[in-house]
Amino acid sequence: MVSIGAVTRRPRPIVAIDGPAGAGKSTIARKLASELGFLLVDTGAIYRTVALAARRAGVSWDDGPRVTALAEGLVADHALDVYPAPNGSMGVRLSGEDVSEAIRTPDMSLGASTVSAHQGVRNVLLAMQRKAGATGGVVLEGRDIGTVVFPDAEVKLFLTATPEVRARRRFDELTAKGQKVTFEETLADVQTRDAKDSGRAIAPLRQADDAVLFDSSDMTIEEVVSKMRALVEERSR
Ligand code: DC
Repeated sequence: MVSIGAVTRRPRPIVAIDGPAGAGKSTIARKLASELGFLLVDTGAIYRTVALAARRAGVSWDDGPRVTALAEGLVADHALDVYPAPNGSMGVRLSGEDVSEAIRTPDMSLGASTVSAHQGVRNVLLAMQRKAGATGGVVLEGRDIGTVVFPDAEVKLFLTATPEVRARRRFDELTAKGQKVTFEETLADVQTRDAKDSGRAIAPLRQADDAVLFDSSDMTIEEVVSKMRALVEERSR
């Protein structure tokens, strides 16, 4: 942090990108971070890894106290660690095993959405996310970055698109990976997750009052990234 008179600023900004599932956050955050030369923190991947660890340990995603204890153990043992992957995304390891792909299934999407509704789990992961972003020069993407994790982020972006557009993108992504899903199932998953993520009592998905809204329904990824980048550069002056 640098003090300028009474105002304390980070040398490089924190960029918070929040929004619902399938709005293009991951791709856009990855490109933006790479163009800016910033670190990328994909907070959803961290919740997904907790869901995977719970599944493997035979702990029900609905069991708040047990999932919280499990998450605490993972953090205390440094069993959950993240690293910048060569393709610019964020990779995750669980007890040394690279689980970056294993967490990207519809089942783990639902698991992450379920475990993330427990206050205990959120508290444990909050400290980890704050530590990862504290120095600035970082793009964090998630649901509550601008509202809870870094309410003082220099740049807050909220990215959305219609449920149909988001489901279509998710469907194309999953089928390209060879997963057997129908569009209707994918749309239903998107709607279920929207309801869970926005309707939960703790840190619900919500646009921060001072966040800039982007609707990617009719914009290309490149258009969104270039507008966001211009905004970050303007706020960095
Ligand atoms: O961004 P994603 O689809 O990988 O996130 C998976 C789930 O994790 C999402 O449905 C809700 C939860 N999540 C959260 O509650 N808070 C975050 N900052 C990021 C994700």
